[in-house]
Amino acid sequence: MAAMFRSVPQIFRGHQFASVPLSARMFSKRADEKRPLADKVAVITGSTKGIGFAIAQRLAQNGAHVVISSRKQQNVDRAVATLKEEGLSVTGTVCHVGKAKDRQHLVDTALEHSGGVDFLVCVAGVNPLVGSTLGASEQIWDKILDVNVKSPALLLSQLLPHMEKRGGSCVVLVSSVAAYIPVPKLGVYNTSKAALLGLCKSLAIELAPKGIRVNCLVPGIIKTDFGLGEKTVPNLLPELNKIYGLQRFGEPEDCAGIVSFLCSPDARYITGENIIVAGFSPKL
Ligand SMILES: NC(=O)c1ccc[n+]([C@@H]2O[C@H](COP(=O)([O-])OP(=O)(O)OC[C@H]3O[C@@H](n4cnc5c(N)ncnc54)[C@H](OP(=O)(O)O)[C@@H]3O)[C@@H](O)[C@H]2O)c1
Repeated sequence: MAAMFRSVPQIFRGHQFASVPLSARMFSKRADEKRPLADKVAVITGSTKGIGFAIAQRLAQNGAHVVISSRKQQNVDRAVATLKEEGLSVTGTVCHVGKAKDRQHLVDTALEHSGGVDFLVCVAGVNPLVGSTLGASEQIWDKILDVNVKSPALLLSQLLPHMEKRGGSCVVLVSSVAAYIPVPKLGVYNTSKAALLGLCKSLAIELAPKGIRVNCLVPGIIKTDFGLGEKTVPNLLPELNKIYGLQRFGEPEDCAGIVSFLCSPDARYITGENIIVAGFSPKL
């Protein structure tokens, strides 16, 4: 008798399913596979050029609505227009991640789309100093730690109530191989990027009970204004790349697919990982 009742909903479900033609079901499954982030909302800091822009573009191509941001309005306008030309779902706003008011404005802008946020990707990072670590002023320490380390945590705390109600949310931080191989004269920056590896682990533990995953992208030298800029071109790493690496610098797009994967349901059992995209990594 009990078995009979158990089978009723199964039959009913089967009937409902059968009412959709097989070809349509297969098409919609294939469409979902191609757009694994459909109906999701992604907030991405530092995303009007370079690595952040490539990530925004890929997440949008994979179905997400992306909210891009950076400090300068003209950069936001240009990036939004470029992605819209591709037919992608995008909005943008100015957000200097070190400013609480800007962060709140970014949160408000993101909520305008569908009242919640699924993914936070913290790309914005700075390095205003090339020189001695111990010679760095308190102001320099504050600026680098504020933007690179504190801002992802503070922005996440502002977004958390809107992420935890969604289910399947995730966060991606952006560190650097400079965390593993300290680049001479970039001591404060190296330290900030090493701190992000730890922040990733701590947040992963803290947010696991809420079902929110936290991972960290760790790029090598990527061809961007920042990566190849005079200030930050690390002399050490190109030499290592020649010996061990894939014999080229990375492109921003090399960092995009892994972030899309980490946001996707395929990564549902991956959290607390620091994942290197550098053509080679000395880390075991
Ligand atoms: N390129 C590399 O070789 C490399 C390697 C390892 C790690 N990384 C990390 O990757 C991240 C992105 O670097 P990238 O190479 O893509 O740099 P990029 O091409 O210079 O782009 C930086 C982006 O961040 C924005 N930005 C800068 N400061 C910001 C702030 N305080 N608040 C909000 N947005 C800000 C910039 O726009 P606005 O000027 O309009 O603000 C721009 O959109 C950084 O965290 C960096 O440490 C880069």
